[in-house]
Amino acid sequence: MIARRDLAVCVAARTDLSPTCFRLTLTAEGPVEAVPGQFGMLSCVEGFDPFLRRAFSLAGVSQRRGSTEVEFLIKEVGKGTTLLRHATPGSELRLLAPLGNGFSLDPGAHRLALVAGGIGLPPVLFAAEVLAGRETRFDLYLGAANVAELLEVERCGKAAAAVGGEAVLTTDDGSRGEHAFVTTALARRLSQGRVYDRVLACGPTPMLAALTELAREHALETELSLEEPMACGVGVCLGCVVELADGRYVPTCKEGPVFPAARLAARWWP
Ligand SMILES: Cc1cc2nc3c(=O)[nH]c(=O)nc-3n(C[C@H](O)[C@H](O)[C@H](O)COP(=O)(O)OP(=O)(O)OC[C@H]3O[C@@H](n4cnc5c(N)ncnc54)[C@H](O)[C@@H]3O)c2cc1C
Ligand code: FES
Repeated sequence: MIARRDLAVCVAARTDLSPTCFRLTLTAEGPVEAVPGQFGMLSCVEGFDPFLRRAFSLAGVSQRRGSTEVEFLIKEVGKGTTLLRHATPGSELRLLAPLGNGFSLDPGAHRLALVAGGIGLPPVLFAAEVLAGRETRFDLYLGAANVAELLEVERCGKAAAAVGGEAVLTTDDGSRGEHAFVTTALARRLSQGRVYDRVLACGPTPMLAALTELAREHALETELSLEEPMACGVGVCLGCVVELADGRYVPTCKEGPVFPAARLAARWWP
């Protein structure tokens, strides 16, 4: 297990990806180790307002000479994410990371399906780029409401192409890629006989619910990264509990955020 640390990080770059989403690149002194699916609790300002840090999945971690570059993809939805959107290069923030578990990226896999919905992309992109480096084959299904919300399309395509995989784009309104939900695109390929060892996914709850159903129909092992609202990120406040199939309630931040779909209680889904 990789030990978490409270890191002093510096804003290296902030790049707009859509009218509401941006990439935030931070640098930390020394090495930072993390695996796809893990997340960090990031302060939004140099001071203490807002006091609570916000949870974000790691979208990439790369070692540079003597330092580490940590990447997040963020959607502006409220006070904290608006402050981050306006963070100036050079400003200093705090990051508690890495937190939680990660996706199973077993090297022996024949072919994986990676599925991302909207701002669920970050942990999936991190997984895609790690798998591409390990030459593990995967297809990447990237869905969004519309073309403006399809993020990092080129990076997704490049990672999938590196291992001979397909990058499938879908939009709910048909403005780019297949005019369908991302789960429909996956269902179509499964019914055409495409076989996967495992599905790894992150996205909105209805997408994860549809995926759980699909996984059941096709007896597919599926891992879901959940994004329950979090206050502490370390299992103390119990604000992020989910119910498991065995009746236990567990904090998503400690036992997750990645769970096998079969471990989750059916009534967790809306
Ligand atoms: C493990 C984990 C990983 C995450 N990864 C990412 C990521 O990579 N990129 C990203 O943009 N966001 C991610 N989120 C969601 C992110 O934490 C929230 O969007 C953020 O905390 C909102 O902060 P705010 O101050 O801007 O909004 P607030 O002012 O706190 O809230 C604004 C609105 O957003 C809603 N909201 C707050 N938290 C969540 C949440 N977790 N899910 C859905 N709605 C929420 C609130 O109910 C409210 O309606 C992740 C959450 C978790 C738990
Ligand atoms: S966020 Fe506090 S217990 Fe999970």
